[in-house]
Amino acid sequence: MQRKTKSALVRAAVRASRKAVAPYSRFQVGAALLTSSGKVVTGVNVESASFGLTCCAERVALFTALSMGCRNFRAIAVVAEIDGGPMPCGACRQLLSEYAPDAEVLVADRRRPSACKSFAVSELLPDAFSRFRS
Ligand code: THU
Repeated sequence: MQRKTKSALVRAAVRASRKAVAPYSRFQVGAALLTSSGKVVTGVNVESASFGLTCCAERVALFTALSMGCRNFRAIAVVAEIDGGPMPCGACRQLLSEYAPDAEVLVADRRRPSACKSFAVSELLPDAFSRFRS
C-alpha cells in the first residue's frame, strides 16, 4: 500500500478516536477501515457501565462497514494514545480473520501517527478458528 494511503487512513483513525465513548477507561481508540473500493469506514470504542458490553473500535468499524454492504477490505488503522499504539484484542483479531483476512493492520500511537507499525491478520492470529464442520 502507498505511504500516502496509509497515512491518510491513520489520520482518519486519529480523527475518529476523538469521538470515542470511553467514560470509564478514558482510553480513546479510533479505527479506520479501507475497503477495496476505496471507501473509509471509521469506528470508536463504546463503553458500558456493564463493562463486559464494551465494544472495541475495530469491531465497531468492521460491523458498520459490513452493515453498509462492504465485504472486501484492504487495511485497517487502529490508534490510541499509547506507546507503540494499541494492539488489537483477541476478539477483534478473530473477527478480522473472518471478515478482513487480507487486510493490512496499521497500528499507531495517536501522538506519533507517522510511526505506524504494520501487521498481517494471519500474523496476529495464526491458526484462527474458522469452521465448525469438517
Ligand atoms: N479497546 C479498543 O477499542 N481496541 C483495542 O484494540 C483494545 C481495547 C478499548 C476497549 C475499552 O473501551 C478500552 O479500549 C480499554 O480496554
